[in-house]
Amino acid sequence: MTDLGFVHRYIPSPSDSPLTLLLLHGTGGNESDLLNLGRELSPEAALLSPRGRVLENGMPRFFRRLAEGVFDIEDLTGQTHALARFVGDASRTYGLRPEKVVAVGYSNGANIAGSMLILHPGALAGAILFRPMVPFLPDKLPDLARKPILVLAGSRDAVVPRDETERLASLLKRAGADVTLRWATATHAIADGEVEAGRGWLAAKFPS
Ligand code: MLT
Repeated sequence: MTDLGFVHRYIPSPSDSPLTLLLLHGTGGNESDLLNLGRELSPEAALLSPRGRVLENGMPRFFRRLAEGVFDIEDLTGQTHALARFVGDASRTYGLRPEKVVAVGYSNGANIAGSMLILHPGALAGAILFRPMVPFLPDKLPDLARKPILVLAGSRDAVVPRDETERLASLLKRAGADVTLRWATATHAIADGEVEAGRGWLAAKFPS
């Protein structure tokens, strides 16, 4: 398989659905990690799943960090541009509809999805963000005009404090996005009921 700049897996839609889920794993994950999650979120969508290109003690990530929750912004922006290019190249290679690409990110993957929403707002139709943080504060708000974004947060998350989640939701709302913030009684790990909630949200916002 051509790697298009990122090692990745691509699973076509079983039913010619126009929707593609861009699956972005967490620290230490890989391109296979979120395929089941993607299928649970949508039985019909095509799945495009890249592996983060940065290694932290052997663990793949989508960008470098200086410490837990402290991001290397230069690397983050460079990797975000590369990921946006990958989505464009993959759309041409696999015949995907670029205006129907919805990101599904977990943790580090949710953070680069947030960065893509800020730096390349046209590259995503929407996003499901499991346990995201504020990737960085932009000088100028992007135009996310009614873009559907689901933020799934855990009230017992030791990695992402509650006010961080609230700051991100507020930033996305101020940029014009159609934000749904859902709290689960959960840690940083995805908990029961959240995938089902994501599936319902996706079917409502992106009906086939
Ligand atoms: C990050 O580095 O993106 C966040 O701290 C989440 C993580 O990967 O632990």
